[in-house]
Amino acid sequence: MRIDILTLFPEMFSALNSSIIGKAVEKGILEINVVDIREYSTDPHKKCDDYPFGGGVGMVMTPQPVYDCIQAVDPDHKAKRIYMSPKGKILKTALVSEMAKNNDRLVILCGHYEGVDQRALDLCIDEEISIGDYVLTGGELAAMVLTDALARYVPEVLHSAESTDEESFSQGLLEYPQYTRPREFKGISVPDVLLKGNHADIVDWRNEEAIKITVKNRPDMLED
Ligand code: ADE
Repeated sequence: MRIDILTLFPEMFSALNSSIIGKAVEKGILEINVVDIREYSTDPHKKCDDYPFGGGVGMVMTPQPVYDCIQAVDPDHKAKRIYMSPKGKILKTALVSEMAKNNDRLVILCGHYEGVDQRALDLCIDEEISIGDYVLTGGELAAMVLTDALARYVPEVLHSAESTDEESFSQGLLEYPQYTRPREFKGISVPDVLLKGNHADIVDWRNEEAIKITVKNRPDMLED
């Protein structure tokens, strides 16, 4: 999968060089291309924002640099083009897995300030996505969340032992608790059932624990 991320703050994306995503990029399983929108501004001072028509606080990203940047990165509109925005569709597991399955190229546009001129969005964007009901100072952190979540569905990014099948959300329940060595820590023992090796009992225990944590933290998931 190739993901082009369009931003005024490319330096923020160094976080994607680490850990599982960084390794997948190194191995060429995943291609992440961070593009500086400012380089496409035709303004002599590379300005990319201006005051909103009609008044109001803050600045709006001008359409020209955004439009030209998207055209340069995806001239034939082969990619699914996404704008990260609190006004977008809420990101959930089903949306992540569907996007990963159906697209091998994505363009993710990050807005800043009070957003992007609507004409650039109307001309270029296929879908708006929000990572939750709160407003961030820009779309960059949201784009990293989306990239990380998508990458986990790209074949070979996760080790075969790790899987997206059993984890929180994929089966309508939050995930059961995990334990590792030592068997006792600060006087607290690992639950006996996990040490006895009876696979059926372990499955039952994990299922019960998954229900308990879902009732406690996300009862709305059980109503669904
Ligand atoms: N940009 C600002 N807030 C956002 C959010 N909640 N989701 C996606 N992009 C955003």
